[in-house]
Amino acid sequence: MQVRLRDVVEADLPIFFAQQDDPAAADMASFPARDRQSFMAHWERMPSDGSVLRRTILSGEDVVGNVVSWPDGDQRLVGYWIGREHWGKGIATAALAAFLQVEERRPLHSAGRQTQPRIGACAREVRLRPH
Ligand SMILES: CC(C)(COP(=O)(O)OP(=O)(O)OC[C@H]1O[C@@H](n2cnc3c(N)ncnc32)[C@H](O)[C@@H]1OP(=O)(O)O)[C@@H](O)C(=O)NCCC(=O)NCCS
Repeated sequence: MQVRLRDVVEADLPIFFAQQDDPAAADMASFPARDRQSFMAHWERMPSDGSVLRRTILSGEDVVGNVVSWPDGDQRLVGYWIGREHWGKGIATAALAAFLQVEERRPLHSAGRQTQPRIGACAREVRLRPH
């Protein structure tokens, strides 16, 4: 299935919410799931001045996740989240490779825990630096 990126639209947000509202995903990311209100507020507050770059990940026509870069101190971090039913198909690796064509700022650091095998493997594959 072809993996593509596109701009985030409002209709994606409930899908992203459900994807992060998953104990297995939150456990992997070591990041507590947000409740719906906080999640929506977080996405709606993201600045539109170019400092945050975000894309929806599509596999075929399905919204399967998102990838975002943002400044954090003197680093630029990249976060990536795939709905659990789509894990293990190479989607994160393909989406990160595509994102690196859109996000031209360097260096980029993975926001995820490098010690988590799946997160670390994705980051190494596309040569994101550790956070
Ligand atoms: C981490 C995450 C993005 C991976 O998405 P994915 O689409 O399943 O990743 P991929 O299929 O591209 O696989 C990535 C790597 O993990 C490896 N992998 C797959 N399943 C694995 C498992 N059970 N254990 C260890 N490694 C595994 C793959 O082999 C691949 O490595 P390789 O390229 O060296 O072969 C996804 O699990 C996720 O969204 N988790 C919750 C959110 C999160 O933790 N985000 C990252 C921090 S910002």
